[in-house]
Amino acid sequence: MDLTFHGRNQKTEPQVWVVTSGKGGVGKTFVSTSFALTLSKLGHSVLLVDLDLSGANIHTSLGLKPSHLNIRHYFEGQKALHEITIPTPHPRVSYIQGYWDTWAPADLSPVNTTHLFQDLKSLKYDYIIIDSGLGASEKYLEIFKAADEKIFVTSTEPTSIEKTYRFIENYICYSLKEKTSAESYAGLLKTLRNHRQGLLDQPFSFKSYLKESEGFTLEPFLNLSKQPIRLVVNSVRSHNFATLGYSIKSVCYKYYDLNIDSIGCLDYDNAVWQSINNREHVLLSQPFTPLAGQFLGMCKHLIDPEELRAVV
Ligand SMILES: Nc1ncnc2c1ncn2[C@@H]1O[C@H](COP(=O)(O)OP(=O)(O)OP(=O)(O)O)[C@@H](O)[C@H]1O
Ligand SMILES: [Mg+2]
Repeated sequence: MDLTFHGRNQKTEPQVWVVTSGKGGVGKTFVSTSFALTLSKLGHSVLLVDLDLSGANIHTSLGLKPSHLNIRHYFEGQKALHEITIPTPHPRVSYIQGYWDTWAPADLSPVNTTHLFQDLKSLKYDYIIIDSGLGASEKYLEIFKAADEKIFVTSTEPTSIEKTYRFIENYICYSLKEKTSAESYAGLLKTLRNHRQGLLDQPFSFKSYLKESEGFTLEPFLNLSKQPIRLVVNSVRSHNFATLGYSIKSVCYKYYDLNIDSIGCLDYDNAVWQSINNREHVLLSQPFTPLAGQFLGMCKHLIDPEELRAVV
């Protein structure tokens, strides 16, 4: 076995993974921190970035206290990203504290995503994982769009699944909006509304609509399937849900002409909340559970096989 640490080729820039969801409380922070710890066990350096404006809690998930230095200092121009990066006790894992002073409103709208990503890409990590806020507000959609890997978490509950479809529709529309005129985009929204109300005389298809309508080209839409959303079904309590990810994938294909990648299910495990209560991440307190294996499988699926040499 090769025990040498390789990491990613340090000449390459970090890969940015963004984790989001349609519904709150489905496990974004747990998945983000678990991916970070799993990648670090594979020998990679990882920076976790807490961008959840509703209240940061990556630090709690990692068993740490909130840091005074936080992303607000970067967004308000007082510090560079590397100046607010905080090491953790976990080898090769650092993090950037999110807003904890939420009594002073946090607003991402003035944030220039291109600039943020340029700054993130200049950092010397193999992977950067952003725990993003939930839902389909424009800024979060923009950050999701800019990510190298777009990871979407749902639970098995119908409320979460429903919000998954709403998020995906928003993501498609948002991606098409910037490639067309306001007039053409308004035409698309009107057709979608009519479709939802059952007023169209034939089934709606994004592909056919974009082909046939003035002001659109198919390419931006087809690109969404080339860099697919990676769907994670979390907190699975029964084998009955083993194929839920594939069902959501087929629905997306059938109704949106969109290819998404269902990368697997994560068991519901009581040890998760028990470990958080003990201020220790479950992948550290219980490293050899099925859940740990499921995270490993997902990371292996997402990273370049060339980068799997350092597994110990
Ligand atoms: N696979 C799991 N098994 C058991 N409990 C879990 C699992 N995943 C998450 N949890 C628990 O669910 C709760 C919510 O998880 P988490 O905070 O990661 O969700 P979130 O989507 O980040 O929430 P928010 O929208 O508030 O940011 C936590 O108490 C966590 O311990
Ligand atoms: Mg969270």
